[in-house]
Formats: sequence, C-alpha cells, structure tokens
Amino acid sequence: MTDSTAASISPPDIRWGDVRMATSGRLARALTAEDLRLMARRRLPRPIFDYVDGGGENEFTLGRNSAAFDRIGFRPRTVADIAGRSQSTAYFGRASAAPFAIGPMGGLGLLCPDADIVLARVAARAGIPFVLATGASASIERVAEAAPDGRRWFQLYVFSDADLNRRLLQRAASAGFEALVVTTDTQIAPKRLRDLRNGFAMPMRLTPRNIVDFAARPGWLWRIGRKSGTGLMGNLAAEIGGTPTAAETFDFFRAGRSRSVGWEDLKPIRDVWRGPMLLKGIVTAEEAVLAAELGVDGIVVSNHGGRNLDGTMATIEALPQVVAAVGDRLTVFLDSGIRRGSDVVKALALGAKGTLIGRPIAFALAAAGEAGVEHVLAMLHDEVDRVHGLLGCPRLDRIDPSFLWRDDRPARP
Ligand SMILES: Cc1cc2nc3c(=O)[nH]c(=O)nc-3n(C[C@H](O)[C@H](O)[C@H](O)COP(=O)(O)O)c2cc1C
Repeated sequence: MTDSTAASISPPDIRWGDVRMATSGRLARALTAEDLRLMARRRLPRPIFDYVDGGGENEFTLGRNSAAFDRIGFRPRTVADIAGRSQSTAYFGRASAAPFAIGPMGGLGLLCPDADIVLARVAARAGIPFVLATGASASIERVAEAAPDGRRWFQLYVFSDADLNRRLLQRAASAGFEALVVTTDTQIAPKRLRDLRNGFAMPMRLTPRNIVDFAARPGWLWRIGRKSGTGLMGNLAAEIGGTPTAAETFDFFRAGRSRSVGWEDLKPIRDVWRGPMLLKGIVTAEEAVLAAELGVDGIVVSNHGGRNLDGTMATIEALPQVVAAVGDRLTVFLDSGIRRGSDVVKALALGAKGTLIGRPIAFALAAAGEAGVEHVLAMLHDEVDRVHGLLGCPRLDRIDPSFLWRDDRPARP
C-alpha cells in the first residue's frame, strides 16, 4: 500500500495546539470547507443559508472570487529543506499562530446560539485574531469577558452620529480590543436577490412565502428560532439602553449608518483610535495609497465576499497592484473567496501578510457549533502546512510570486 492510499482510508487526526479536527461522528466526514457548507445547508432554513451563501445581484463577483484563485497554479520546488516550516507570524507586533484570522460577520446568532462568543473562544485557543462585527449578536463586553486572553479586533461600520462612533471605539478600547477594522465598502445597502426572493429580513419575520422553508428545519426552529432576541445586535442594544426588541435594534442600525463616508470622516476615527487601524474593502492601488496617507496601519483587500457591488474584480486579481503601491507601508490582508489552505498560500505569495476567513467559518458554526469551528480552523492550518511543504518553500513569510503559475485563459465565473 502506498502512503497516499493509507492516508485516504483513515480520517486524519489533525491537532493544532488546542484545536483539532473531529475524528469521529458526522463532523469527521467533513474534509473540506465545501463539505461543511453542505452540512450547514441541511441544517439551516433556506433564507438563513442564502443570507450567508449569497452575494450581490447576479453573484458574478461571488463566483469570480473563487474562479480567480483556481486560475493560479503552483510552481513547486521539490528538493528543499522544509523540515523547520512554520506558519506562525506576527501582526502589529504580536504573534499569530497562522496567517489567517476570523473575519467580521454580523447576524451569526441566526446560525448558532452565542455565535460570537464561540468564535472568540476558539480563535483564542487557536492563537489567531478574531474580528467582532459592529452588527454581531454578542456585545463587545460579553466577547471580552468570554475570551479575555484572545486577540480581539473590532469592526466598525461608520454611523452619522460621530458621538456614537466614538462611544463604540471607547467601549472596544476599554474592553481590550486591540485593533480597529473600519469597513468602507457597504455604505449603500446592496441588492441581494436571494434575500429579496426569500423574504429575508432582519430581524427574521415569517411570511407565507418562507414559512415552508422554516417548517422544513424544525431543529433550527427549536435551537434558535424560538429564542427571543435571536440575531439581536448586542453592541447597538447597549447603545439604545433598556431591553430593545430585535426590530428596534435593527432599525437603529439601519437608520444610524452613514450613507456616505469620505476621507474627512475617517480622520476623527484615526485620531481617536490609538491602536492599529485597518480599512476593509479597498481593492485599488489608488485608494490604498490614500489609506496610507490617512495614517492607517493596514488594509483588507476585500469585496465583502461578493456580497455588495457585483462586478467588482476578484480580490486575488486586485492584490498585486495594491501590494506594489503600499506593501512596504501597510500590512495588507486579503479576504473573499478563501476556501482552502492553498488559497491562503496564494494570497501570501502575491504579497498579502494575512487573510481573513469568512463563510467557511460561518458554515462550520452552523454545521456543528464550537466543534465545527475548531474543525475548520485545524483543517485550514493543516492544508496550509501541506501546501507549504509540498511547494518546497522553506519560509512562508518569504514566499513570493515565483512559486505561482498563471493560467491566462478567461475566468469561468
Ligand atoms: C453572513 C456574513 C455577514 C457579514 N457581515 C459583515 C459585517 O458585519 N461587517 C463586515 O465588514 N463584513 C461582513 N461580512 C464580510 C466578511 O467579513 C468577509 O469580507 C467576507 O465574508 C469574505 O468573503 P468569503 O466569505 O467569500 O471568504 C459578512 C460576511 C458574511 C458571509
């Protein structure tokens, strides 16, 4: 029996520090992020699954994000000293155990009870940063209490009320959040066709149209749907005061968001926030330069996972120009479309210092809660390690485009 067939018949026993892949039960059968997505689809009512899975308008960018990764191949070195390989890295002077972090996602309370608490805890155990969204279900303070030793970053959607922005930043700073991630690509509500067709609304309302979808998932109704306050935005509920209903909190969020954010609006935020600050949503070299001039420490090259402006280029296509313009001045992260360790390695080879993981985390959470998130993180870590080794790259932090090969045929979105 060859080594490769031996590996294919036993479930991998993959541990990474304090997190590990499941080795028995249904979770052990999930060998890829796509497997977890399919498991999540079986557990979630269709409108909730589509809220996570879907993108803007015709989902051209959603498809392009992944297709563009697939068009990049590897040029391995097969004779290389890879014995000492490690994926530990550092962001803003502090260690991270892997070149990926958990990206900000709102509304995850619809997938799993205490979703953000689970994510913060698992990220702390894995030794990677976790970005808490403004619209997260759990509040800044609850997350800090649940993961006091974890690296916690806070994502801000800018509100028109400058005092509210300041208060949120003060709360994040006093709760020990280390970095601020200001999202710049969502001032206008996107047109997500799946949500419109499913009658998806925040907070969730049952309509004659979607009642069948919910009835088909009694397990979800029992675990999540019946609990009052599901999907409540903890950060904003605390700003309203008292015990607002989920509908009141969402109205506060929608009405308060600034619909136009210029560079002048970002200056006071940069002045108030003492720690590292990143802008998330930049995809052009021109804006990356302006971000550096504003005095931020990093950017996330992101198109929001194809959820907003449909037709935006894939982030992995945009990355080289951004890195050429600001790679020496800013810490450049990338997200949107990362589904495997090889995608992470491709982003690093094109100059990103790190990546944020979005949907694979959300689906793991929906598929199996805390064990699911451990499973997907250990899986990604293992995949990065295998690709790193098979590529014959001694130092992941020094990987460069010479390890990549480009397929120049047109993308198939
Ligand atoms: C369910 C869901 C909710 C999200 N909520 C936010 C958010 O509140 N703030 C934000 O900056 N990005 C948000 N994002 C975007 C992610 O941070 C990230 O940019 C995106 O998921 C990356 O694409 P990928 O999931 O295809 O990898 C959300 C994404 C998803 C899937």
